Formats: sequence, structure tokens, C-alpha cells
Amino acid sequence: MALTRIGLAGLAVMGQNLALNIAEKGFPISVYNRTTSKVDETVQRAKAEGNLPVYGYHDPASFVNSIQKPRVVVMLVKAGAPVDQTIATLAAHLEHGDCIIDGGNEWYENTERREKAMEERGLLYLGMGVSGGEEGARNGPSLMPGGSLEAYKYIEDILLKVAAQVPDSGPCVTYIGKGGSGNFVKMVHNGIEYGDMQLIAEAYDVLKSVGKLTNSELQQVFSEWNKGELLSFLIEITADIFGIKDEQGDGYLVDKVLDKTGMKGTGKWTVQQAAELSVAAPTIEASLDSRFLSGLKDERVEASKIFQGDYSNGLPVDKAQLIEDVRQALYASKICSYAQGMNIIKAKSSEKGWGLNLGELARIWKGGCIIRAIFLDRIKKAYDRNSDLANLLVDPEFAQEIMDRQAAWRRVVCLAINNGVSTPGMSASLAYFDSYRRDRLPANLVQAQRDYFGAHTYERVDMPGSFHTEWFKTARNSMN
Ligand SMILES: NC(=O)c1ccc[n+]([C@@H]2O[C@H](COP(=O)([O-])OP(=O)(O)OC[C@H]3O[C@@H](n4cnc5c(N)ncnc54)[C@H](OP(=O)(O)O)[C@@H]3O)[C@@H](O)[C@H]2O)c1
Repeated sequence: MALTRIGLAGLAVMGQNLALNIAEKGFPISVYNRTTSKVDETVQRAKAEGNLPVYGYHDPASFVNSIQKPRVVVMLVKAGAPVDQTIATLAAHLEHGDCIIDGGNEWYENTERREKAMEERGLLYLGMGVSGGEEGARNGPSLMPGGSLEAYKYIEDILLKVAAQVPDSGPCVTYIGKGGSGNFVKMVHNGIEYGDMQLIAEAYDVLKSVGKLTNSELQQVFSEWNKGELLSFLIEITADIFGIKDEQGDGYLVDKVLDKTGMKGTGKWTVQQAAELSVAAPTIEASLDSRFLSGLKDERVEASKIFQGDYSNGLPVDKAQLIEDVRQALYASKICSYAQGMNIIKAKSSEKGWGLNLGELARIWKGGCIIRAIFLDRIKKAYDRNSDLANLLVDPEFAQEIMDRQAAWRRVVCLAINNGVSTPGMSASLAYFDSYRRDRLPANLVQAQRDYFGAHTYERVDMPGSFHTEWFKTARNSMN
């Protein structure tokens, strides 16, 4: 049998679907999995889905030897120790110049450590973020490869065909940059995804709890929103969710789903990185906190008994106005959330010297991935206008959009507060905007307090230098 073009190890949801996608694009592929039944399952699926050129192997040596040189093997296994174990299994059979690509949601420093270790053995290494879940992997994901440029060049032709294709802006893949940059960018993509999902959930909560919209009204509203500036995968699936009836009982399925959100860690890493880099990311942080609070279901049930009462302000609500206000608030909040995500990436890029192209990242997120949205085109254009943009908020187009929407945005946040409905993401976005746009913040007082109790010194607005005041003595003297 002729050698295959590429190999893929790890045939759970992502690996199996990506392997079929690669084969469908005309690249014969060898596949391997620790548990061999998944190998047979994948080969059978490949047959059923059009006799795709997928070749299964039950042992790593024959798997590796079935691939043409220089060999490229994509791994899609659980992040962490399983990746190290799979590398050890594969590397025993790989030769100088071969390449390993980790397609999992890996911590970027692990990728950098492995890239170095592989280099010492003459192997190339890439850490490639893959977004789009099962469907994306099968039909076109957004791919974020970082690490060895030489390795990227080996497989660029495959990636360009396998990635989601967006008319007018091309395949959703680009060489991200050196080291762990591909994993880092994928991590922040997931953080932004947390923010988007939280903001949509808050829009739902305000419309349902204050506006009293039914599920079928919500389905209509979200379908309508999906025709305009909010057009995106997440708005589309949200509209679908509101239309699904419960097959096991009365009513709609969404109302039967337990209000407890799971998570796998990339959102937490994003927030930790934001803190490490001293970048404010309050919307993404609020989305993470909301997941933590959602997990306290039993405590919340008990607290709801202690804090019983009618929190609604009882005022009549103009439904049409509310729907339009919430739409605008959601859009404005989303701009702030993306601004935060982009700033985390920008700060890391300059810390690590990665030279990341933010506009190009927005372009490859336009298709295939979970945050795909028409809105990303506007972000790309903003960075095309000015690649050094300090913050998305000050791009002239986004600035105007925020100005046009801020009245509605403030109405929604105030209405939610007055009705006891928490909107942590929208409120955090608004506070981010209100802090960022003000030339003077109350930080002068915080700095004075720091100098008072800790002699941390302060700068002055009217003269250069570093100052310290004996605040306590001065205050007591002035009392006497
Ligand atoms: N699921 C998604 O929607 C999604 C989206 C984007 C990215 N990702 C990322 O893509 C990667 C794969 O995700 P997934 O959901 O397809 O699979 P997963 O559930 O994260 O991992 C299962 C795979 O890992 C293998 N594995 C686990 N421990 C191993 C070990 N010690 N040695 C060798 N292999 C081991 C399993 O092999 P066995 O069959 O032998 O157990 C199986 O192939 C993960 O990093 C995930 O975070 C997932």
C-alpha cells in the first residue's frame, strides 16, 4: 500500500471527525488510538461516509511507518499528561525531521516545553488550536497553528483545505506565530466565547424575567437578531434552543435544563493570564464568576428562601422597546468583551515577542469556530485601519457604535438592577467602558490611601516626580 500523507492519533470526538475531514479533502490519512476499537470505528465511518481514504492501525510502529516522510502526526488527545504519553509512544518511531502537531486545548507553556524537547530529538512541533467542536472538525474548523514555521509549511496545503472556508476572506487558518502562540490564541478565543455566552444568557434573562417573553417569543427575537449586526453562530443556536420542546414531558426543553454550567478550564486560564499581564478583562471574568455561582445550585436554593420577596419594581415594560434596548446593550457589551480578549493577546504577544496579527486572528475566527460572527469582520477592519489600535473601543467605527447604543445599554443595566436581575457581563462591560473613557478616575484617592498606610508614594498631576506625605501627622496636626 502507498504511504499516506498524514497521520492522526486520538480518535475521540475531535480526532475522528478531523481525520474524516482531512480524508474527504483528498489526503490519505493513517489513524491510531490507544483503545483500538476506536480505530476500527473510524475506518468503518470513513467507509460509510463515501469510502474516504482512512487507514487504521492498532500499533504505533505500523501507524508511524505508514506515513510518507517527513512524517506529520496530529494528536487529538486529552490535554496534559495524555499528550506527553502519546508523544513518548509516537516519538519512539519517528525520525529526524518528522513533525508532531498537538490539536488539543493545551496550556501554551506545555507546548513550548515540548517543542524544545522535540527539537533536541530533531523533531518539529506545532501546538494548533482547533475550534468548532464536532461539527467544525468534520466540516471545517477554525485552526490556530503556532510553533515551528517549517512544520506549518509541511502541512499548509492540507490545513488550507480542511479549515472552514469563508467567502471573501479565505480559509480560517493562518500561521499564528512562534512557541505556544497557537494554544494561547485558542485559549483567549475560548475566554471570549465564555463572555459571548454569558452576555446572551443575560439578554435572555432580562427579556424573560423582566419582559416576560415566552420561549416562542424569544425564538422569534433571537432569529430576528440573527439577521443583523448580531448575526453569529451562538445567536443562531440560541434561537434554535428556544424552539425545542421537551420530549420527556410538557413544555420546552430549555426550562428543564439544570442551571449549572460546566467548564473545562480555558476560561479560567484566560482570566488568570489577564491578571498575570495586568490587563482588565471584567466581562470575561464576570462570565467565569457566573459559572462558579451557577455551580452553587444548592446554596442558591437555600439563599432564595432567606431573601424571598418580589424584586420587580412593578413598573410596566414596553416590550418592543425592551427588545430593541437589549439588542443594543448586547452588541455594545460584546464590543467591550472582544476589546478585552484582544488586549490580552496583544499584551502576551509583546511580552513574548510573538508579533501576532490581531486583524488576521479576527479573520480566521469568522468561520468554523464557536464565536464566528459577522461582527468579526468589523474587528478585522478596525485592525486593518490601525494595527496598533490601543483598544477596539477607540476605533472610530466602534466608538460611534458604542455612542449610538449607550443610552439603551444604560437603560437595560438599570432596569435589570431595579428588578433584581443580575447582569454581571453587561454591567462589567458598561463599567469597563465608563472607566476607560474617563480622563480622571478615583484612583487618586486609592493612591493617597496607599501612601497614607504604606508610604508607597504618589505622583502629582501638576509636577513631575515621586512624592510622599505624612498624611496621619498632617491630618492630626490640622485637627489641633
Ligand atoms: N470536544 C470538543 O468539542 C473540543 C473542541 C475543541 C478542542 N477540543 C480539544 O481537543 C482535544 C480532544 O478532545 P476530544 O473531546 O476529542 O477528546 P477527549 O475526551 O479530550 O480525549 C479523549 C482522547 O484522548 C485519549 N487519551 C486519554 N488519555 C490518554 C492517554 N493517557 N494516552 C493516550 N491517549 C489518551 C483517548 O484515548 P482512549 O480512547 O484510548 O481513551 C481519546 O482518544 C482535547 O484537548 C480537547 O480539549 C475539544
